[in-house]
Amino acid sequence: MSALLTVSQLHVAYGHVKAVKGIDLALEAGKVTALVGANGAGKSTTLLAISGLIKASAGSVMLDGEELRSASPHHIVQKGVVQVAEGRAILGTLTVQENLDLGAYTRRDKANIAADLAWVYSLFPVLKNRAKGLAGNLSGGEQQMLAIGRALMARPKILLLDEPSMGLAPLMVQEIFRIIKEINQTGLTILLVEQNVKQALKIAEHGYVLENGEMVLHDRGANLLNHPRVIEAYLGT
Ligand SMILES: Nc1ncnc2c1ncn2[C@@H]1O[C@H](COP(=O)(O)OP(=O)(O)O)[C@@H](O)[C@H]1O
Ligand SMILES: [Mg+2]
Repeated sequence: MSALLTVSQLHVAYGHVKAVKGIDLALEAGKVTALVGANGAGKSTTLLAISGLIKASAGSVMLDGEELRSASPHHIVQKGVVQVAEGRAILGTLTVQENLDLGAYTRRDKANIAADLAWVYSLFPVLKNRAKGLAGNLSGGEQQMLAIGRALMARPKILLLDEPSMGLAPLMVQEIFRIIKEINQTGLTILLVEQNVKQALKIAEHGYVLENGEMVLHDRGANLLNHPRVIEAYLGT
């Protein structure tokens, strides 16, 4: 496989709490890769370290042959690695449109922004209808759509999604996973962190299972769905 981003032997600690203990992870270009695991496994920490928002203590994050482990968050965004944070960090007192405009803030190719805005509105018609309304008045699912839409306005090469389905009603969960797949089909590489293991592995080409800061399984998503350890730990009825 051709990896666009490769994480090797990454270690991240919060003081003496070792949250990520030497993990390896590769993102294949143009594919969805799922990173699943229980609460506290180290999933968010992994994303934050890739984004440069937390400094890893050791290891490597390579993008297209460039080492990003010591790069600034701003540089990493400039390189096209854009994270949608856990809990939809949208700006509630700004309008939907203003939130999307902010997503394009770091871009150099200003000429293409209008076309991308049209694309985001076509992905999320509900946002178009509410463009002039305050983001804080959107439902939880709509706010998640806005958070994803805002990230897309940065024209990422790699989208990092931290539990996009968290706290959403079942129908909205289905809709979010459908949209993630649709976004991926435009060629965008996606790292999808989820506690909804079943849905995530269904749409992911590759999957990784993280437990207590260690990567315990790695296989094709479809294979992990049938793996006894995954079934027992995450898919039990
Ligand atoms: N800011 C922090 N300070 C100290 N410990 C933290 C902090 N954030 C997370 N942790 C700890 O790091 C571990 C991994 O957390 P996290 O990456 O948030 O897991 P996940 O996203 O898989 O639920 C947990 O033990 C958690 O308690
Ligand atoms: Mg988390």
